[in-house]
Amino acid sequence: MDYFNYRGDDLFAEDLKVADLATTFGTPLYVYSKATLTRHVKAFDDSLSDIEHLICFAVKANGSLAILNLMARLGCGFDVVSEGELRRVIAAGGDPHKVVFSGVGKTAREIEFALKQGIKCLNIESKAELEVVKQVAAELKLEARIAFRVNPNVDAKTHPSISTGLKHNKFGIPIDEVVEVYQQASQCPYLKVSGIDCHIGSQMTSGAPLLEATDKLISLYEKLKNLGINIDHIDLGGGLGVTYDAETPPSPADFFGAIKEKIAALGVAIFIEPGRAMVANAGIFVSKCLYLKDNGEKHFCIVDGGMNDLIRPALYGSVMTILNCQKQPELQEQVYDVVGPVCESDDFLGKERKLQVKQGDFLVVRGAGAYGSSMSSVYNGRPLCCEVLVDQDKVYEIRHRQRYEELWQNEILLED
Ligand code: LLP
Repeated sequence: MDYFNYRGDDLFAEDLKVADLATTFGTPLYVYSKATLTRHVKAFDDSLSDIEHLICFAVKANGSLAILNLMARLGCGFDVVSEGELRRVIAAGGDPHKVVFSGVGKTAREIEFALKQGIKCLNIESKAELEVVKQVAAELKLEARIAFRVNPNVDAKTHPSISTGLKHNKFGIPIDEVVEVYQQASQCPYLKVSGIDCHIGSQMTSGAPLLEATDKLISLYEKLKNLGINIDHIDLGGGLGVTYDAETPPSPADFFGAIKEKIAALGVAIFIEPGRAMVANAGIFVSKCLYLKDNGEKHFCIVDGGMNDLIRPALYGSVMTILNCQKQPELQEQVYDVVGPVCESDDFLGKERKLQVKQGDFLVVRGAGAYGSSMSSVYNGRPLCCEVLVDQDKVYEIRHRQRYEELWQNEILLED
């Protein structure tokens, strides 16, 4: 459930008309709802209320400082995958002691920075990375709390581009090789082996794959326990899906129900790293219809927001709902490809959408709060767009539209 609803013919973000926001702040524009974000954090928190847990919001889904700050105030920790994301969390007022650091390619410098910040856990993804962590921790004389990201070879049954827990994926250490690595790490001074980690994929619409992975992690936990290696948490990553179109994902309570009971029986804490399910439906992307155009049979609705602002449709063929901010019941319905101004044939927000739209209308892409702004670029000389957060009848600008000079501010013009 979210707080973007029609009242009469007008789409509202909480208590504000989206068309008014678009007029005030200009388009393209991201609009977030504070009530929706708060509701989602609470739904995750409640779903794990009777077990020790840490919710580490996946910063890659949306790294906006204002959003991270809100999450931190609501008690969340964070999952980061780079020094840049960790610095973002700190800049937003997040607590580094509640941060887990994932990713297959952490550099020695990033590991050093993370250890100095005293993060909660480094999720190590290879034997070679373990060697670097050992070395850096020893040089710093700092204890590194670590987990190994295990690749359980479980099919998350999602889009191949966002499936991460299969043997052929680059992520994690194969589960049948990891015991030996745990044994090795448990002998190292400066390393505190504290967890087992996995993340099998994103946009999962059933809890079954993660339950299958959990069973594998639990049997690993038992093996380690028998070897005298005591784990204090199991991190299940993120992955809960959302409704973009016709998907029917479970609620957090249903998703974690059976999993939680199994982990509670071990007496260890559960960590999760949700990204999409926290923010996707707490954000919309608003663009303006610049032109309507027909090429023979085909009808195009050309908007001022493009693949550089929201790349999911172009990159994954994602189908995201598109609505007119102000319903136009008097207009004839037409099937349009909603396309952006970028010079690429794949620059589209939606294909073959039935819309009642005219030039100057504002169109909204729903579900754009996750992997929208965070994946945007300045391709085609297009500044990063403005973002606002709505809180009931108030609106706050949380990122100004990038100024043109900022596009080249780090560049150096050679002198003759
Ligand atoms: N933890 C790790 C280690 C991850 O790699 C990810 C996402 C998450 C947590 C958060 O997963 P979520 O709860 O959001 O499913 N750009 C793609 C999604 C890529 C996900 C990458 N990893 C998209 O727009 O669909």
